[in-house]
Amino acid sequence: MLRLDKFLCDVKAGSRSQVKGYLKQGLVKVNGETIKRPEYKVDEDKDVVSFQGKEITYRKYVYYMLNKPKGAVSATKDPMCLTVTELLKDTGYDDLFPVGRLDKDTEGLLLMTNDGSLAHNLLSPRKHVEKIYYARLARPLLEEKRKELEEGVDIGEGILTLPAKVERITETSIHLTITEGKYHQVKRMLQAVGNEVVYLKRIAMGGIFLDESLLSGEYRELTEEERKAAAFKKYQ
Ligand code: URA
Repeated sequence: MLRLDKFLCDVKAGSRSQVKGYLKQGLVKVNGETIKRPEYKVDEDKDVVSFQGKEITYRKYVYYMLNKPKGAVSATKDPMCLTVTELLKDTGYDDLFPVGRLDKDTEGLLLMTNDGSLAHNLLSPRKHVEKIYYARLARPLLEEKRKELEEGVDIGEGILTLPAKVERITETSIHLTITEGKYHQVKRMLQAVGNEVVYLKRIAMGGIFLDESLLSGEYRELTEEERKAAAFKKYQ
Protein backbone atom coordinates (compact mmCIF):
# COMPACT_ATOMS: atom_id res chain seq x y z
CA MET A 1 0.00 0.00 0.00
CA LEU A 2 1.20 3.49 -0.70
CA ARG A 3 -0.10 7.04 -0.66
CA LEU A 4 -1.95 8.14 -3.76
CA ASP A 5 0.31 11.18 -4.26
CA LYS A 6 3.40 8.95 -4.04
CA PHE A 7 1.84 6.52 -6.52
CA LEU A 8 1.21 9.35 -8.99
CA CYS A 9 4.71 10.79 -8.53
CA ASP A 10 6.31 7.37 -9.01
CA VAL A 11 4.55 6.92 -12.35
CA LYS A 12 5.66 10.41 -13.38
CA ALA A 13 2.16 11.90 -13.51
CA GLY A 14 3.79 15.07 -12.20
CA SER A 15 5.76 16.63 -9.39
CA ARG A 16 4.50 16.36 -5.81
CA SER A 17 2.84 19.78 -6.00
CA GLN A 18 1.40 19.20 -9.50
CA VAL A 19 -0.05 15.91 -8.30
CA LYS A 20 -1.70 17.63 -5.34
CA GLY A 21 -3.30 20.07 -7.80
CA TYR A 22 -4.55 17.25 -10.04
CA LEU A 23 -6.11 15.56 -7.03
CA LYS A 24 -7.82 18.79 -5.97
CA GLN A 25 -9.22 19.22 -9.48
CA GLY A 26 -10.78 15.75 -9.25
CA LEU A 27 -8.71 14.29 -12.09
CA VAL A 28 -7.84 11.08 -10.26
CA LYS A 29 -10.07 8.08 -9.67
CA VAL A 30 -9.44 4.94 -7.66
CA ASN A 31 -11.68 2.02 -8.57
CA GLY A 32 -14.01 4.44 -10.33
CA GLU A 33 -14.35 6.86 -7.41
CA THR A 34 -12.86 10.36 -7.49
CA ILE A 35 -10.31 10.72 -4.71
CA LYS A 36 -9.00 14.13 -3.70
CA ARG A 37 -6.93 13.22 -0.66
CA PRO A 38 -3.18 12.85 -1.33
CA GLU A 39 -2.77 10.58 1.70
CA TYR A 40 -5.38 8.08 0.46
CA LYS A 41 -3.77 4.61 0.50
CA VAL A 42 -3.79 2.49 -2.64
CA ASP A 43 -2.80 -1.10 -3.22
CA GLU A 44 -0.57 -0.80 -6.28
CA ASP A 45 -1.23 -4.42 -7.28
CA LYS A 46 -5.02 -4.42 -6.97
CA ASP A 47 -6.51 -0.94 -7.13
CA VAL A 48 -7.33 0.56 -10.51
CA VAL A 49 -6.05 4.12 -10.60
CA SER A 50 -6.94 6.42 -13.46
CA PHE A 51 -5.71 9.90 -14.23
CA GLN A 52 -7.65 12.13 -16.62
CA GLY A 53 -9.69 9.09 -17.62
CA LYS A 54 -6.65 6.92 -18.45
CA GLU A 55 -5.78 3.83 -16.45
CA ILE A 56 -2.30 3.85 -14.97
CA THR A 57 -0.15 0.81 -14.35
CA TYR A 58 2.08 1.29 -11.36
CA ARG A 59 5.77 0.94 -12.13
CA LYS A 60 8.33 2.30 -9.81
CA TYR A 61 11.21 0.70 -11.65
CA VAL A 62 11.67 0.73 -15.39
CA TYR A 63 14.17 -1.02 -17.62
CA TYR A 64 15.34 0.09 -21.03
CA MET A 65 17.85 -1.12 -23.57
CA LEU A 66 19.76 1.53 -25.46
CA ASN A 67 21.78 0.97 -28.61
CA LYS A 68 24.51 3.30 -27.44
CA PRO A 69 26.01 5.36 -30.22
CA LYS A 70 29.68 6.18 -30.57
CA GLY A 71 30.47 9.51 -28.91
CA ALA A 72 28.01 9.30 -26.02
CA VAL A 73 29.45 8.88 -22.55
CA SER A 74 28.08 6.31 -20.06
CA ALA A 75 27.21 8.85 -17.39
CA THR A 76 24.21 10.79 -16.13
CA LYS A 77 25.92 14.18 -16.40
CA ASP A 78 28.87 15.53 -18.32
CA PRO A 79 29.81 19.17 -18.91
CA MET A 80 31.22 18.52 -22.40
CA CYS A 81 29.73 15.40 -23.94
CA LEU A 82 26.36 13.92 -24.76
CA THR A 83 25.40 11.42 -22.06
CA VAL A 84 23.40 8.22 -22.39
CA THR A 85 20.87 9.60 -19.88
CA GLU A 86 20.21 12.57 -22.18
CA LEU A 87 19.39 10.11 -24.96
CA LEU A 88 16.53 8.76 -22.81
CA LYS A 89 15.06 12.07 -21.70
CA ASP A 90 11.80 11.51 -23.62
CA THR A 91 10.93 8.60 -21.33
CA GLY A 92 9.72 11.05 -18.67
CA TYR A 93 11.98 9.31 -16.15
CA ASP A 94 14.70 11.64 -14.94
CA ASP A 95 16.28 9.11 -12.58
CA LEU A 96 17.62 6.62 -15.13
CA PHE A 97 21.26 5.62 -15.06
CA PRO A 98 23.36 3.20 -17.09
CA VAL A 99 24.04 -0.30 -15.75
CA GLY A 100 27.82 -0.12 -16.01
CA ARG A 101 29.85 1.63 -18.63
CA LEU A 102 30.79 1.35 -22.23
CA ASP A 103 33.72 3.38 -23.55
CA LYS A 104 32.88 6.56 -25.45
CA ASP A 105 33.82 4.86 -28.74
CA THR A 106 32.01 1.58 -27.95
CA GLU A 107 28.53 0.98 -29.34
CA GLY A 108 25.73 -1.37 -28.49
CA LEU A 109 23.72 -2.71 -25.61
CA LEU A 110 23.52 -0.55 -22.53
CA LEU A 111 20.81 -1.30 -19.98
CA MET A 112 19.30 1.79 -18.39
CA THR A 113 17.19 1.68 -15.25
CA ASN A 114 16.24 3.42 -12.03
CA ASP A 115 16.47 0.12 -10.13
CA GLY A 116 19.62 0.44 -8.07
CA SER A 117 19.60 -3.04 -6.60
CA LEU A 118 19.24 -4.71 -9.97
CA ALA A 119 22.10 -2.62 -11.35
CA HIS A 120 24.21 -3.47 -8.33
CA ASN A 121 23.60 -7.18 -8.82
CA LEU A 122 24.29 -7.14 -12.54
CA LEU A 123 27.56 -5.34 -11.91
CA SER A 124 28.73 -7.30 -8.90
CA PRO A 125 32.04 -9.03 -9.71
CA ARG A 126 30.83 -12.01 -7.68
CA LYS A 127 27.87 -12.67 -10.00
CA HIS A 128 29.95 -13.26 -13.15
CA VAL A 129 27.30 -11.83 -15.44
CA GLU A 130 27.99 -12.76 -19.06
CA LYS A 131 28.65 -10.00 -21.56
CA ILE A 132 29.06 -10.66 -25.27
CA TYR A 133 31.00 -8.30 -27.50
CA TYR A 134 31.50 -8.12 -31.23
CA ALA A 135 35.02 -6.87 -31.96
CA ARG A 136 36.82 -6.07 -35.17
CA LEU A 137 40.56 -6.38 -34.90
CA ALA A 138 43.51 -4.67 -36.54
CA ARG A 139 45.18 -8.03 -37.36
CA PRO A 140 44.07 -11.63 -37.91
CA LEU A 141 43.64 -13.57 -34.68
CA LEU A 142 45.80 -16.66 -34.71
CA GLU A 143 44.42 -19.87 -33.20
CA GLU A 144 47.02 -19.90 -30.41
CA LYS A 145 46.08 -16.35 -29.45
CA ARG A 146 42.39 -17.27 -29.51
CA LYS A 147 43.15 -20.05 -27.03
CA GLU A 148 45.21 -17.72 -24.83
CA LEU A 149 42.28 -15.32 -24.64
CA GLU A 150 39.97 -18.16 -23.66
CA GLU A 151 42.29 -19.41 -20.95
CA GLY A 152 42.98 -15.95 -19.50
CA VAL A 153 45.54 -13.25 -20.16
CA ASP A 154 47.38 -10.74 -17.99
CA ILE A 155 46.00 -7.29 -18.76
CA GLY A 156 48.54 -5.62 -16.50
CA GLU A 157 47.10 -6.60 -13.15
CA GLY A 158 49.40 -9.52 -12.39
CA ILE A 159 46.51 -11.99 -12.52
CA LEU A 160 44.84 -13.68 -15.44
CA THR A 161 41.43 -12.69 -16.73
CA LEU A 162 38.74 -15.29 -16.07
CA PRO A 163 38.14 -17.92 -18.76
CA ALA A 164 36.37 -16.44 -21.77
CA LYS A 165 34.77 -17.69 -24.94
CA VAL A 166 36.18 -16.52 -28.26
CA GLU A 167 34.37 -17.34 -31.45
CA ARG A 168 36.05 -16.33 -34.69
CA ILE A 169 33.65 -14.80 -37.21
CA THR A 170 36.24 -13.83 -39.82
CA GLU A 171 40.02 -13.67 -39.56
CA THR A 172 39.75 -10.22 -38.04
CA SER A 173 36.44 -10.27 -36.20
CA ILE A 174 35.27 -12.16 -33.13
CA HIS A 175 32.52 -12.66 -30.61
CA LEU A 176 34.05 -12.49 -27.17
CA THR A 177 32.11 -13.58 -24.08
CA ILE A 178 33.46 -12.43 -20.72
CA THR A 179 32.14 -12.59 -17.18
CA GLU A 180 34.09 -9.66 -15.75
CA GLY A 181 33.82 -5.94 -16.36
CA LYS A 182 37.24 -4.44 -15.85
CA TYR A 183 38.13 -1.04 -17.24
CA HIS A 184 38.73 -1.31 -21.03
CA GLN A 185 38.73 -5.07 -20.53
CA VAL A 186 38.16 -6.18 -24.12
CA LYS A 187 40.67 -3.73 -25.57
CA ARG A 188 43.26 -4.69 -22.97
CA MET A 189 42.70 -8.42 -23.53
CA LEU A 190 43.35 -8.05 -27.25
CA GLN A 191 46.34 -5.85 -26.55
CA ALA A 192 47.72 -8.57 -24.27
CA VAL A 193 47.84 -10.95 -27.25
CA GLY A 194 49.49 -8.39 -29.54
CA ASN A 195 46.35 -7.29 -31.35
CA GLU A 196 44.14 -4.20 -31.29
CA VAL A 197 40.39 -3.57 -31.24
CA VAL A 198 39.35 -1.19 -34.01
CA TYR A 199 35.59 -1.44 -33.45
CA LEU A 200 33.65 -2.67 -30.44
CA LYS A 201 29.98 -3.32 -29.90
CA ARG A 202 28.26 -5.05 -26.98
CA ILE A 203 25.55 -7.37 -28.16
CA ALA A 204 24.37 -9.06 -24.96
CA MET A 205 24.42 -8.78 -21.18
CA GLY A 206 22.89 -11.04 -18.55
CA GLY A 207 20.96 -13.04 -21.15
CA ILE A 208 19.50 -9.93 -22.81
CA PHE A 209 20.42 -9.40 -26.46
CA LEU A 210 20.52 -6.07 -28.25
CA ASP A 211 17.42 -5.67 -30.41
CA GLU A 212 18.78 -5.59 -33.95
CA SER A 213 15.99 -3.27 -35.05
CA LEU A 214 17.22 -0.47 -32.79
CA LEU A 215 19.25 2.03 -34.75
CA SER A 216 22.26 3.62 -33.10
CA GLY A 217 20.97 5.97 -30.38
CA GLU A 218 17.52 4.35 -30.24
CA TYR A 219 16.09 2.65 -27.17
CA ARG A 220 13.09 0.70 -26.02
CA GLU A 221 11.73 -0.75 -22.82
CA LEU A 222 12.62 -4.34 -22.02
CA THR A 223 9.79 -6.73 -22.74
CA GLU A 224 8.19 -8.80 -20.02
CA GLU A 225 10.06 -11.86 -21.34
CA GLU A 226 13.36 -10.02 -21.26
CA ARG A 227 12.73 -8.88 -17.71
CA LYS A 228 11.88 -12.41 -16.75
CA ALA A 229 14.78 -13.88 -18.74
CA ALA A 230 16.34 -16.58 -16.62
CA ALA A 231 19.65 -14.83 -16.29
CA PHE A 232 18.17 -11.41 -15.57
CA LYS A 233 15.93 -12.83 -12.86
CA LYS A 234 18.70 -14.83 -11.31
CA TYR A 235 20.63 -11.63 -10.60
CA GLN A 236 17.75 -9.83 -8.88
N1 URA B 1 35.73 -3.48 -22.92
C1 URA B 1 36.29 -2.40 -23.48
O1 URA B 1 37.47 -2.37 -23.75
N2 URA B 1 35.49 -1.33 -23.71
C2 URA B 1 34.17 -1.32 -23.46
O2 URA B 1 33.50 -0.33 -23.72
C3 URA B 1 33.60 -2.47 -22.90
C4 URA B 1 34.40 -3.54 -22.63
